[in-house]
Amino acid sequence: TNGVRLAGRHILITAGPTHEPIDPVRYIANRSSGKQGFAIAAAAARAGARVTLVAGPVHLPTPEGVTRVDVQTAREMLSAVESALPADAAIMVAAVADWRTADAADQKLKKDGSGQPAPLTLVENPDILATLGHHAQRPALLIGFAAETQNIAGHAQAKLARKGADWIVANDVSGDVMGGDANAVQIVTASGIEAWPALPKGQVADKLIAKVADALSPRSD
Ligand code: C5P
Repeated sequence: TNGVRLAGRHILITAGPTHEPIDPVRYIANRSSGKQGFAIAAAAARAGARVTLVAGPVHLPTPEGVTRVDVQTAREMLSAVESALPADAAIMVAAVADWRTADAADQKLKKDGSGQPAPLTLVENPDILATLGHHAQRPALLIGFAAETQNIAGHAQAKLARKGADWIVANDVSGDVMGGDANAVQIVTASGIEAWPALPKGQVADKLIAKVADALSPRSD
């Protein structure tokens, strides 16, 4: 078990999607249940850490012992993450929307009868993981996730460098991982790739938190 190996540590986790409003009733989002991130937050709390969980809109209960900050948009998520610093480790599990509308409409957009949809101008959202990777208060251990459908390890290697992360937890989402209870991941670091078998998300969380504890305080035995 992970016992209290993370006692005295602050672990910062993002989870869930972000919702980027188009108008008061519509939004842009990625598919994400938040289950994996919430399981990691629960595992970190069980290991004795102080846990801040910055959560996008999801339908999940707050794990015991976890401080939860609810947000809607990527920009709100970034500011909640920066407000939670410093942290010993940050694990960015959220499926952040890459784009938001240039400006959300105050009123519901209406069909105008012309058959032409209202134009949507998109702008890029801040990359929260990359911001932390190059932050003055960069956590000692910075972990990102990568949902890929092909060339999983290759894309993850590139992502490590680009985002300034220490590890990328890559998973193949071409199957039925989304919203499901199991996950097969590969941990990509500068020193190589560790492939884990398909496991329930709770076990992926426990194994990942054990690895985080090892990295923060190597066992001498
Ligand atoms: O580039 P990509 O979206 O595949 O990267 C995924 C990783 O980056 C995840 O850890 C995700 O939480 C993080 N991310 C982020 N902010 C974004 C986009 C992705 O923190 N705007």
